[in-house]
Amino acid sequence: MNPLNHVAIIMDGNGRWGLKYKKSRNAGHKEGLKTVEKIIKQTIKHKIKFLTLYAFSTENWRRPKKEINYLFNLLENFLINRIDELHKQNIKLKIIGVKNFSSKLNKLLNLSERKTDKNRLLQINLALNYGSKYELVNAFKKLQKNKNKITEKNLTKYLQTKNIPDPDLLIRTGNTHRLSNFLLWQLAYAEIFFEKKLWPEFNEKDYNKIIKKFKNIKRNFGKI
Ligand code: FPP
Repeated sequence: MNPLNHVAIIMDGNGRWGLKYKKSRNAGHKEGLKTVEKIIKQTIKHKIKFLTLYAFSTENWRRPKKEINYLFNLLENFLINRIDELHKQNIKLKIIGVKNFSSKLNKLLNLSERKTDKNRLLQINLALNYGSKYELVNAFKKLQKNKNKITEKNLTKYLQTKNIPDPDLLIRTGNTHRLSNFLLWQLAYAEIFFEKKLWPEFNEKDYNKIIKKFKNIKRNFGKI
């Protein structure tokens, strides 16, 4: 059975779910947050140490301002209401991506990271204003600036995921088969599962099923 240390998720399909059932994309985001909570609980049950959630990409700025504001409000309220509980549960929160939000949200994110920094049960990496190409270009620039030799090990030091093991498993919901500029370097050997269901309808049972399948895959890492 394969060990499972790190799950990464592209939570796709909120907008479609919201339009279909509530005539509002934002309602889909609100519902999607409930799935986030369910999946965090289930990740702890499986004793998985790292969960990376793609919440906002560098490309998502192209969405209507109203939707962007709604998403960040949702995040703000989530942190305000839930960070103490996450902390009590021994969960560490880390943001990957560039924190260039409102000063209120930036402060809240920094505070949440600092507060939970020593927690060890589960590390949640929230990808916010994250883009893998930007992350890689930035890492190469740092290699160059510090006159470091270009090696895999040196490059990894300058990624936002420094000190985080690569994901073993990537799940993308929403019946779309692409990586959308997410962890392109780190996913080199991940097992990838594309799920038809939209994120708000994805549940513990679906997650368990994928984990079970993942555990039984023969992972070769290039060997035979
Ligand atoms: C993709 O669905 C989802 C997002 C861009 C946002 C993800 C946000 C959440 C799950 C809720 C907030 C999370 C936290 C942690 C506060 P989409 O809108 O691209 O869906 P579509 O493909 O149907 O348009």
